[in-house]
Amino acid sequence: MSTTLQAVRGMRDILPEHSRYFALLENCAREVLTAYGYEEIRLPLLESTELFKRTIGEVTDIVEKEMYTFTDRNGDSLTLRPEGTAGCVRAGIENGLLHNQVRRLWYGGAMFRHERPQKGRYRQFHQIGVETFGMAGPDIDAELLLMTQRLWRRLGVEGLELQINSLGTPAVRMAYRAELVAYFTAHQAQLDEDSRRRLQSNPLRILDSKNPALHHLIAGAPQLSAALDDESRAHFDGLRRLLDGAGVAYRVNPRLVRGLDYYTKTVFEWVTDRLGAQGTVCAGGRYDGLVAQLGGRATPAAGFALGVERLVALLEEQAAPPPGAAPDVYLAVLGEQAESLGLLWAEQLRDACPALRVLVNCGGGGFKAQLKRADKSGAALALVLGDDEVAQGSVGVKPLRHDVRQCTWLWPDLLQAVSGCTAADVPRLLARND
Ligand code: HAM
Repeated sequence: MSTTLQAVRGMRDILPEHSRYFALLENCAREVLTAYGYEEIRLPLLESTELFKRTIGEVTDIVEKEMYTFTDRNGDSLTLRPEGTAGCVRAGIENGLLHNQVRRLWYGGAMFRHERPQKGRYRQFHQIGVETFGMAGPDIDAELLLMTQRLWRRLGVEGLELQINSLGTPAVRMAYRAELVAYFTAHQAQLDEDSRRRLQSNPLRILDSKNPALHHLIAGAPQLSAALDDESRAHFDGLRRLLDGAGVAYRVNPRLVRGLDYYTKTVFEWVTDRLGAQGTVCAGGRYDGLVAQLGGRATPAAGFALGVERLVALLEEQAAPPPGAAPDVYLAVLGEQAESLGLLWAEQLRDACPALRVLVNCGGGGFKAQLKRADKSGAALALVLGDDEVAQGSVGVKPLRHDVRQCTWLWPDLLQAVSGCTAADVPRLLARND
């Protein structure tokens, strides 16, 4: 008995009606990032497991519960990347990109986390991530936020709220952690199971709890902002001044802690209330200690990653569908000679007008069936090539969207006419009456 194979849970096929929006976002992001001087880096999907343990943190949800980890044929423990920052820092150190240099890098691609799948949360998802190295001041933090804001504007995504916070230096966080443990221990009876577990492993994450029963307790917890040292406070104040000066609206969220251990000072999230529980579409911050922690020379760093699926969901909700891949021209071919000449002429047409989308009828069929396919394809014109046309060295041109009579072109004349034209002009140009 054969069973139908299905995609692995949490891993989605991105079908053409959705992939159009993915391409729209990816192209727009590439344009904006390039315009700000960011360079693309392409990173492996697989890294050593150790890399993620040492960067994201041993006691984070990602490392404890969500990684796709396996032992390969050599006995090495490998992990499908759950995020891109760790691999980018590893690559930067390994390839000498960070030595006394300022770097602005970006990457895109699939990430893998074994989370409980739901709307906006998948086990394979896509990020476009940005990492900067060698710039310690709040100016680069502000640039990252201005750049994301420009991307939202270019995409027409509205209503995102920017939340910012400062996590301070590692020393500040250690002291604050002790304060939090003391507070929550004193109220242990009110904690849920998850928070009780986090109390020892990662108490800052209790502040992030989505359990409404804990909100009152969390509201009374000591605030990290009160524990900040002078340096972190000056950095945060500097960022706020820059954002105010540039007219970027934001809200300081003292409970924003992020789920990865490597952050220092600035953290931020762009949030929407239109996607239910998975409302963070872009998140990041500063991670000044990470390069040194992985064996490189101490290098300040900051970056973010946006969740492609979540932004696509917003785009699908509010943007007009991007144009599909309808051909401009459908070439119908009838007979053995026409079939082989058709392939050759289609190539010549593509040479003459490279942007023109030309679909050649493959798989046979009578003219009627082929014209039906041409109509269904969305093409503006059908070119018709049968025995008579082959004998005369011509093609029939049949406009499919307007009530204009079919006409005939000698092939060399047609090639000359379309040569150097934009694809959009070709249908009008060829649909002349004899
Ligand atoms: P993150 O907050 O773990 O940060 O992920 C960034 C974004 O990826 C999230 O805000 C969300 O939009 C999207 N995302 C995360 N998990 C899923 C999922 N299971 N399904 C769909 N979308 C998801 C990072 O990954 C850091 N590396 C960001 C960064 C870069 N920080 C500094 N540089």
